[in-house]
Amino acid sequence: MTLIRIQTLMSNELSKRIFLSRPPEPPPEILFNDPTNSIFVGTTKIFKVPFTWTFSNITNPHISVVGITGAGKSFFVKTFLARASYIWNTNAIIIDWAGEYISWVKQSGGKIVALSKGDYLNIMDLSGIKPIDRAKQIMNSLDILTDIAQYPEQRRLTSEAIEQAYLNMGFPLASPPPPGKEPPTLKDVTKLLEEKLQEGTYAYPAELENTIYRLRQFSREGEDYFANKSTIDIGKLTSSGLVDLDLSSLPDERFRAMAALFILQTLKEKMRLESWSSSAGLKTLVVLDEAWKVASDERSDAVTIIREGRKYSFGLIVASQNPTDVNEAIFSNVGTTFMLRIRFEKFMNYLQGSLNFSDFIRSEISKLGVGEAAIDMAFNTGVRFPNVFLVNKIVGELPLDTYSIFTSDILTEKELSDTSVKKDYSFDKMSLTSILIESGYSSDAISIILNSLNEKGRHVDIREFAKTALSTGINRQYLIGFLRSIGLNDTIISRIMSYLS
Ligand SMILES: Nc1ncnc2c1ncn2[C@@H]1O[C@H](COP(=O)(O)OP(=O)(O)O)[C@@H](O)[C@H]1O
Ligand SMILES: [Mg+2]
Repeated sequence: MTLIRIQTLMSNELSKRIFLSRPPEPPPEILFNDPTNSIFVGTTKIFKVPFTWTFSNITNPHISVVGITGAGKSFFVKTFLARASYIWNTNAIIIDWAGEYISWVKQSGGKIVALSKGDYLNIMDLSGIKPIDRAKQIMNSLDILTDIAQYPEQRRLTSEAIEQAYLNMGFPLASPPPPGKEPPTLKDVTKLLEEKLQEGTYAYPAELENTIYRLRQFSREGEDYFANKSTIDIGKLTSSGLVDLDLSSLPDERFRAMAALFILQTLKEKMRLESWSSSAGLKTLVVLDEAWKVASDERSDAVTIIREGRKYSFGLIVASQNPTDVNEAIFSNVGTTFMLRIRFEKFMNYLQGSLNFSDFIRSEISKLGVGEAAIDMAFNTGVRFPNVFLVNKIVGELPLDTYSIFTSDILTEKELSDTSVKKDYSFDKMSLTSILIESGYSSDAISIILNSLNEKGRHVDIREFAKTALSTGINRQYLIGFLRSIGLNDTIISRIMSYLS
């Protein structure tokens, strides 16, 4: 007992001394790089050094971003993509789960590709890959998204039928695809299995029926997004500027995940053919935002791409509100992790366990405001300084005319993870003004409110907004009217009001 206590004491002393004798941030020459060849993010918290991101001194260009809803993950991603495009001419492909990047991509002059509106991806497309390898990838996606791995016989039947479909279309399994030939689709695969069932010679017809049933989920009329001739060339998108692959109108999570897995497989194959060159900048950034199924599974190519690290001239950005939904291999292999506001202990434990930061950093992370971050970088110089440091609010470009009021800091864990609860209310100046007028505010009161919002960077906590609105001397009822008309429910409104009394 005594011995242990002495040891704890000593190691506490030791860690204090390490903190005193070592600088708490990486040195300025690591943080601040040539501005024409790096991306400005923000100013460090302790020594106020401008931090510019470059992959030249880290293990790879891949990035993970975590933080609660409303913490500023997507805002950071947009800022980062815009600057990368400006500095390195980087292309970007956003695998847009919820369609939340559409309006920004449109504003930035990018291209929207909406799967499901008459656009198809044939998951049997080869893009130069040998049929046998593509067959394995399709089986891999089915393993991740369906229960097929539990039924070895059905798995074997599926895999065999996929290979047979390639052979029938004239593709030798183990060679690169001959040019000019049309690949089969999942419909051809299903048909082969149906024919086998009709022959009536197969010993386990029930197995066969279940196999067909599972594949039909992805080839049924109207839901055959992945079972028709492709109308989109994923390979080409890696050099098309800014592209938003909108998955939001696919019928469910399984379809979105199927699309994301296929896209990552294709990108991985394409990128393997191109070699990494650190002087040429980043060729392409691929964004996976809130794609938990794809980020969590060990077998997903998100994990493969990140593990293979530097080989590619492109970076993968994985953003998630729930760090435990991101495979640990991603945290331990990405070159950079941006940790934004985190509110839950279990998430903090997971991050601290994977990234190994101090309790000092842990307590700082729990105090972060919207847009503020702790950054972990895997420097490839022998690290003699801490690899996690803090930055003040990430400096991005909120459009001048936009005001945004966020509620995330007063929501419960349950409300935060409920996608039907809005966390952020954004308005342009005109619409904010007109809602305030309708709620009974005078023009004097409105200009006091707008001025105060401007001073605060046009992005405020709802409690702060409410305080300002009351400070104009106007009745609480008007404020409540305003909060109702922007769509807040009474439970949340009374929570806001309770902060004011
Ligand atoms: N660094 C920042 N500076 C200014 N506004 C920010 C910043 N980060 C986030 N915001 C604003 O906060 C809101 C929520 O940010 P968002 O990126 O959508 O959060 P998340 O993706 O983590 O849920 C948005 O209105 C965004 O404009
Ligand atoms: Mg987001």
